[in-house]
Amino acid sequence: MTGTVRPVALITGASSGFGAEFARRFAARGHDLVLVARRRDRLEQLAAELPSTTCTVLPADLSDPGAPAALLGELARRGIRVDVLVNSAGFGSYGRFEAEDPDRIADEVQVNVGAVTALSRLLMPDLLSSRRGVLLNITSTAAYQPSPSLAVYAATKAYVRALTEALWQENRGTPLRVLALAPGPTETEFFEAAGSDRFKVGQMLSVPQVVDVAFRALDRRDPPPSVIAGRRNRWTAVAAGLLPRRWVLRVADRLTGE
Ligand SMILES: NC(=O)c1ccc[n+]([C@@H]2O[C@H](COP(=O)([O-])OP(=O)(O)OC[C@H]3O[C@@H](n4cnc5c(N)ncnc54)[C@H](OP(=O)(O)O)[C@@H]3O)[C@@H](O)[C@H]2O)c1
Repeated sequence: MTGTVRPVALITGASSGFGAEFARRFAARGHDLVLVARRRDRLEQLAAELPSTTCTVLPADLSDPGAPAALLGELARRGIRVDVLVNSAGFGSYGRFEAEDPDRIADEVQVNVGAVTALSRLLMPDLLSSRRGVLLNITSTAAYQPSPSLAVYAATKAYVRALTEALWQENRGTPLRVLALAPGPTETEFFEAAGSDRFKVGQMLSVPQVVDVAFRALDRRDPPPSVIAGRRNRWTAVAAGLLPRRWVLRVADRLTGE
């Protein structure tokens, strides 16, 4: 007798923050995992925390444009079909545009936009052939208005939101659930990596609070295209869509500007 095949969740950015938490939650929901990020030791540590879950650790640097296709090759070689893709890997750079390192900007666009697009596209046949398919892309409240001093980052997140919402519509009528999750400032390693100490612990949401928002949306009979974590963040996003652009930018500058 063959056992039930466990669904597989591939999670990028699983070495930290949201990605690590999504890995734990999908494991608790009976998924096996493919864990992707650069820091192999962190991924192996997470796998060791989850002894009853089959975890495949695939370290990859997603700023390399060849990384998504190489990951797909590795999955095919190991005979792994993916039911759930969580694109959580991403980073920001804080500072004025002209002061930013051009190579870091290129990496940021590649990780936040290029890799998300390529992995979503390359894994779409797997996701669509699954009865339990999920495509979950992490965008940001920065997708709802430009962010001075996080200009490139906010632009990449606006792209991810637009891409994901369009894929939600394209896949209406299929079992695939597509969701763009927009966290506001949350307690992860994000701000340290971005070079900003703008937000303090205690002023931010916690990772479990934000991940709960994603699962509440995904568990709905008809999940929405996108969800913003936190009531204040939702109101800010609504206001940003209604107010004159110059006001929105002035307020955004107060929130994120140098
Ligand atoms: N925290 C927030 O306030 C916030 C708000 C809105 C949206 N977000 C988004 O949430 C997502 C997760 O970030 P987080 O908050 O969880 O921050 P985090 O704790 O810094 O995690 C970022 C993850 O991305 C991975 N990553 C970065 N560069 C990579 C690369 N070149 N190749 C492969 N993986 C790479 C990191 O792994 P390695 O370093 O091991 O490679 C790490 O696992 C990001 O897309 C971020 O933009 C965060």
